[in-house]
Amino acid sequence: MPGRLDGKVALISGGARGQGAAEGKLFATQGAKVVLGDVIDAEGQQTAREIEAAGGTAVYVHLDVTQEADWQGAIDATVQRFGKLDILVNNAGILRVEGLEDTTLEIWNQVFAVNQTGVFLGMKFAVPAMRAAGGGSIINISSVAGLVGGGGATAYQASKGAVRILTKSVATEYAKENIRCNSIHPGLITTLMVAGIDPEAQKMIEQMTPLGRSGSADEIANGALFLASDESSYMTGAELVLDGGMTAQ
Ligand SMILES: NC(=O)c1ccc[n+]([C@@H]2O[C@H](COP(=O)([O-])OP(=O)(O)OC[C@H]3O[C@@H](n4cnc5c(N)ncnc54)[C@H](O)[C@@H]3O)[C@@H](O)[C@H]2O)c1
Repeated sequence: MPGRLDGKVALISGGARGQGAAEGKLFATQGAKVVLGDVIDAEGQQTAREIEAAGGTAVYVHLDVTQEADWQGAIDATVQRFGKLDILVNNAGILRVEGLEDTTLEIWNQVFAVNQTGVFLGMKFAVPAMRAAGGGSIINISSVAGLVGGGGATAYQASKGAVRILTKSVATEYAKENIRCNSIHPGLITTLMVAGIDPEAQKMIEQMTPLGRSGSADEIANGALFLASDESSYMTGAELVLDGGMTAQ
């Protein structure tokens, strides 16, 4: 059976674990050649090995998304190894849960460096490679925290809101070059990112979610697969909300 990403090359930031790893694994089963970039090198190499062991094609590169040189290196490595770049998933992110008065300037800058500047740099360095490939699909992982307020997590909310509008800005700027750009807005997803959140608070969020549960990394990866593939060819500048109905209320 033909894969939904046959012939495509994808770079996924934060691809060592969690949602990024789920996307890498799913994309590879659908025929994409996958480059995983992250700062946790041992886990990233292990994830790439698992993809290869399952019959897919994957490599790992060290990519700190806050660093311009790392982005240039990751894009160069992708093009050198696989000939082009079609798909970028800006998935790397960090969570801080402090509210407004507890958010130090250091926390604010740290969260923005990864969640916002990291997305900006990724797109800036990916666009020339996508142009050379005749187009591409950029998928920016925002959050429900980028759509509605929640109280607390001030820097995280602001950074994810910025990803939402940056996505629309880039989508309109590059539509004529066949480079699409969409954002995904997950609700509560069971990964290590939320492992530290008080279980009672997690239960409360699940009870507030119409589908009555948290989501899985695989459920987000399925949405990313649609945006990465040509099945979403008429979709750009849009928000794919995968939150169990949380923001529908
Ligand atoms: N888990 C949730 O409930 C949830 C909800 C909404 C949105 N998100 C977003 O989904 C994305 C993936 O998160 P996850 O749930 O898989 O969590 P995770 O913590 O398992 O994965 C995040 C990945 O990003 C990597 N990373 C962190 N800083 C980096 C940097 N400077 N450079 C490169 N990589 C870096 C981490 O090493 C890790 O592999 C994030 O952008 C997160 O904000 C998560």
